[in-house]
Amino acid sequence: MSARTVPPLQIGPHRIWPPLILAPMSGVTNRTMRALYKPFGLGLTVTEFVSSNALQHGNKRTMEMIDQHGLEKPVSTQLWGDDPAVMARAARVVRECGADIVDINFGCPAPKVVKTRGGSACLKDVERCEAIMRAVVCAVDCPVTMKMRLGWNEEQLVYIEVAKRAQRAGVAAVTLHGRTARQFYKGNSDWDHIARLKAAVGIPVIGNGDIDDATQAMDRMERSGVDAIMLGRATLGNPWLISQIADLMEGRPARQPPAPADRLRFAIVHYRTMVQELGESRAVPQMRKHVALYLKGIPGAATLRERIMHIDDGEGAIAVVEETIESLERCAEAA
Ligand SMILES: Cc1cc2nc3c(=O)[nH]c(=O)nc-3n(C[C@H](O)[C@H](O)[C@H](O)COP(=O)(O)O)c2cc1C
Repeated sequence: MSARTVPPLQIGPHRIWPPLILAPMSGVTNRTMRALYKPFGLGLTVTEFVSSNALQHGNKRTMEMIDQHGLEKPVSTQLWGDDPAVMARAARVVRECGADIVDINFGCPAPKVVKTRGGSACLKDVERCEAIMRAVVCAVDCPVTMKMRLGWNEEQLVYIEVAKRAQRAGVAAVTLHGRTARQFYKGNSDWDHIARLKAAVGIPVIGNGDIDDATQAMDRMERSGVDAIMLGRATLGNPWLISQIADLMEGRPARQPPAPADRLRFAIVHYRTMVQELGESRAVPQMRKHVALYLKGIPGAATLRERIMHIDDGEGAIAVVEETIESLERCAEAA
């Protein structure tokens, strides 16, 4: 019997175990990906961010972004926008479509988002942040959470102010990525700020940024005191990191990562599932990036990546991966 090393994360009625969350990643965490990664040990997954304006028109692609698999429950659906009334309407739509939690994005630094005053641009105006949070909380009967960066820039670190307003507005939990918007992905996520936020508010705090190792994840969690951690880029091509952290949270030693050939076998499952669910024309470009990441550390990876970049059909790319598995196995037998 192992004893859990951390408590579950409580968000409204949802008891989230383990307190390990897959970060929302636009163009990546679609329903297929969330369902594929959930069994590795995630407590919660978040959709890609969805524009509250686009939701008013309900086009097919937008509705697909908020669609769920069923396997990945509970699901948090993330919205972005600058207008409290539009955000409230969008929240009602996603709730009706099955969102268990509605998450508000105050973190995206992408130019196309901030130029319409959405995402991290909201952090330039804490009053507007509060108005958006209040409107969304009033609009739905499920918990509302919020994800943000430290502030727009170094001179305006508003995260504690915004989180206090979130708490007063009835927001159930807040995620902090420890960079400013102006930093994009430069420098490091500053976990001292994350610890400061945890000490400043009573609602659960989820820490995010630069976690890429199981021991480091637990260390960050302990030192900052956060209630949960959110993992993004490091899980891509390496969902086993999720299982390793989940092991440590369950109080057992972290499992060994799989052998390279087994990693690639999973890459094939991932590939075929994406083709089945998204169709070849959409799955192939997305899977080029994923396969490149699954190949990381495998001998000859650069050449294999290059070959796969030029293949336009799923089974053709899978044949290259299968060939690689055979050659890895021949090498293992010879050793
Ligand atoms: C490709 C990509 C897309 C992202 N899309 C979103 C998004 O839609 N919503 C959001 O809140 N954050 C988004 N992020 C930020 C991540 O959720 C996360 O905060 C960031 O990557 C830091 O965590 P990490 O170091 O574990 O990757 C995105 C990040 C990446 C790399």
